[in-house]
Amino acid sequence: MDKEAKTNVDIHPILKQRWSPLAFADKPVEKEKIQRMFEAARWAPSNNNLQPWRFVIGFKGDETYNKILSTLIDVNVEWAKTAPALICIVGKKVNHKGDPNKVYPFDLGHAAAQMAFQATADGFNVRQCVGFVPRKAFDALGLPDLYAAVSIMAIGYPGDPETLSNPLKKIAKAERVRNNIEDVVYTGKFGQKANIF
Ligand SMILES: Cc1cc2nc3c(=O)[nH]c(=O)nc-3n(C[C@H](O)[C@H](O)[C@H](O)COP(=O)(O)O)c2cc1C
Repeated sequence: MDKEAKTNVDIHPILKQRWSPLAFADKPVEKEKIQRMFEAARWAPSNNNLQPWRFVIGFKGDETYNKILSTLIDVNVEWAKTAPALICIVGKKVNHKGDPNKVYPFDLGHAAAQMAFQATADGFNVRQCVGFVPRKAFDALGLPDLYAAVSIMAIGYPGDPETLSNPLKKIAKAERVRNNIEDVVYTGKFGQKANIF
């Protein structure tokens, strides 16, 4: 399956090669590669260097994995349960003074992106997922007040989409698509095309 991004202009190979699988291979993930993913997250930029990200990781078969899996909506369980590792990405909602940090999910996105690119560099694929019940994760993982479960990340090596049920198989085999760049880059005012492409 050719999942590499078909880009208009050349971009970094890691960016082209990242894609989100719906089937994972039955192959464990190496500890050093997981360590590198967290190190990549650690060096993400953040508002005021608050580093609001926290991670709870479970490996297939352990209690944490089952807890994270139990928070997902049904359609996500089908593919997520094939992943060798699941991470719940948790954010601290306040700054050092206890005031709301309105941009903490933005920073979590940076951290998750860095993890995804490091994972790609190491031959892993990740699929991120917000189709879960955050309150369930809050309770199951014992999150403290002022923290929120924002996303789940499934990690592993890509598997065979033929193992998926029909609706998911179709999605997994579909071509990767994106909006036209001309339609999303503006100048002068919103909606006015930049004409730089
Ligand atoms: C924040 C976020 C939430 C997502 N939630 C889900 C989800 O609940 N279920 C799912 O199957 N995929 C989910 N995805 C994966 C997207 O569907 C996928 O990234 C998108 O279709 C683009 O495909 P690509 O990552 O292969 O380029 C999510 C991705 C992100 C970044």
